[in-house]
Amino acid sequence: TWPLYAAALLGYLLGSIPFGLVLTRLAGAGDIRAIGSGNIGATNVLRTGRKGLALATLLLDGAKGAVAVLIANQFFGQDMAVMAGGGAFLGHLFPVWLRFQGGKGVATFLGIQLAIAWPVGVLACLTWLLTALVFRFSSLAALVAAIMAPVYCYGLATISPWQGLVLADFQRAEFAAILALLVVIRHRANIARLLRGEEPRIG
Ligand code: G3P
Repeated sequence: TWPLYAAALLGYLLGSIPFGLVLTRLAGAGDIRAIGSGNIGATNVLRTGRKGLALATLLLDGAKGAVAVLIANQFFGQDMAVMAGGGAFLGHLFPVWLRFQGGKGVATFLGIQLAIAWPVGVLACLTWLLTALVFRFSSLAALVAAIMAPVYCYGLATISPWQGLVLADFQRAEFAAILALLVVIRHRANIARLLRGEEPRIG
């Protein structure tokens, strides 16, 4: 079982790097946790007015999930790649360095999906973009994209030409569904604000 622990630990350590917090600090933009929603993610970094920092946060938070999956796949195989992805996601949500007070997992979720099954990741990213363009709520876009990802997994797994394109077949839809559920739970405050009509729009 050591490859399982190694993959999960590798994922957790990568996932627990709070890029939003680190980058805003390095850029002298203050503590991101004291700004806007208090979240350490790219959407909140955007509220500092630093678009480049927000983009860098989005890409790095996504990349840490993808890199964890790809490294574990290389050294331990497909099933352990999924474990590393799960570890990275939990690392982002519950980083030991921030007393387990991490982010909402959206960018990391998308990075993990792109690495495990890129067609699912691409569809989830497009879903985020389309929802964000239409409604202008980052949180709503995240919720729709996360909820649709397991549906895309399930759908694509049943279409035979797509099967060769996915990295890990091991319970992909179930895995995506568990992560999506955690994304929804982390957005409780956003959901409440959306329902009250108080959620700030992007831009
Ligand atoms: O990525 C998190 C996003 O969905 C919501 O962020 O700062 O508006 O709570 P925020």
